[in-house]
Amino acid sequence: MIRSIIAGIGKYVPSTVVTNNDLTNFMDTTDEWIQERTGIKERRYAHRTEETTTTMGVEAAKVAIERAGLTPQDIDFIIFATLSPDYYFPGCGVLLQRAMQMKQVGALDIRNQCSGFVYAVSVADQFIKSGMYKNILVVGAEKHSFGLDFSTRGRNVSVIFGDGAGAVVLQATEDTNRGILSTHLHSDGMDAEILAMFNPGTHANHWKADAATFNNAEMGDMFMSHTMIDEAQNFPNMDGPAVFKTAVVKFPEVILEALTANGYQSSDLQLLIPHQANLRIAQFVQQKLKLNDEQVFNNIQKYGNTTAASVPIALCEAWEAGKIKEGDLVCLAAFGSGFTWASALLKW
Ligand code: COA
Repeated sequence: MIRSIIAGIGKYVPSTVVTNNDLTNFMDTTDEWIQERTGIKERRYAHRTEETTTTMGVEAAKVAIERAGLTPQDIDFIIFATLSPDYYFPGCGVLLQRAMQMKQVGALDIRNQCSGFVYAVSVADQFIKSGMYKNILVVGAEKHSFGLDFSTRGRNVSVIFGDGAGAVVLQATEDTNRGILSTHLHSDGMDAEILAMFNPGTHANHWKADAATFNNAEMGDMFMSHTMIDEAQNFPNMDGPAVFKTAVVKFPEVILEALTANGYQSSDLQLLIPHQANLRIAQFVQQKLKLNDEQVFNNIQKYGNTTAASVPIALCEAWEAGKIKEGDLVCLAAFGSGFTWASALLKW
């Protein structure tokens, strides 16, 4: 029987720290409001021109590959999760393959927002268990700061998100005492528009406003129109309270699903790494599962919500701090736009 272990883990966060007070220069908000509602004190923003989602992913991947005792040439497959790709297409996977001078291995991009990394781990795990690949690089990276509405209009979204990247090398092992025990993936598209960025996109909602007839100029306008920019339709939209209500139900559900599937209870967990959506959501989950403070790792205070990067950054930081030891039962769990939610249970 083949299992996947995390053979190496790395993270990269940009050096620029943006505090809540810094944000008050652009919008009507306060440090108190942000901390009280989200737990966030500061976040990192990538360099405007020199850093991209891919370059941050590359930095995290270098560390993960080195810690696995491998070189980029040893990687058999790349999975890159992000909602903020460098280009509309092609995806970041091939850009990372090029930047790291890897072999011409397959590169897959995953668009599952906050649960993207856990979905990516699940996909990688299936490839490894089937015997197809031995070393898969899984990356979660985001450059949110390029595309947020920093005016008061966008404050409910923009104060939450930050930039960064995390990566793991998943490796095949025949040691059945370690590795990923199971992964659990879910979605419910009924609420797809509750947390979404609609434009640019191929949906028809803005067509009527911009193109009454189908001539060349107006067809071009459909993708990126003046109305879209004037009305700030090209920024993410979120009904925060609605996200909150569903997250606090689905997070515990998917964690319990993973524990139950493997004959464990929440008291058996050494560490839960929840997607860093909001500290209040994590605290709610902790309470519901009756976990003590030592069993849950949070670092949203320093980085904000880094979407697909949040789980690998938190996992890496917990591991670097010595909070994860060999044999520990660790659960990764995420919930986000889609809605999509997922968990992975593993023995370190
Ligand atoms: N600073 C100051 N005031 C703000 C603000 C900000 N950054 N953002 C919103 N507000 C205001 C609103 O305009 C509203 O004002 P009003 O009462 O005068 O209309 C008030 O604060 C309350 O807004 P509301 O959205 O109801 O607040 P909330 O308590 O639900 O907190 C979130 C907002 C976004 C922090 C919260 O809903 C949340 O965390 N939801 C989950 C979001 C999440 O996790 N997203 C990622 C999913 S992966």
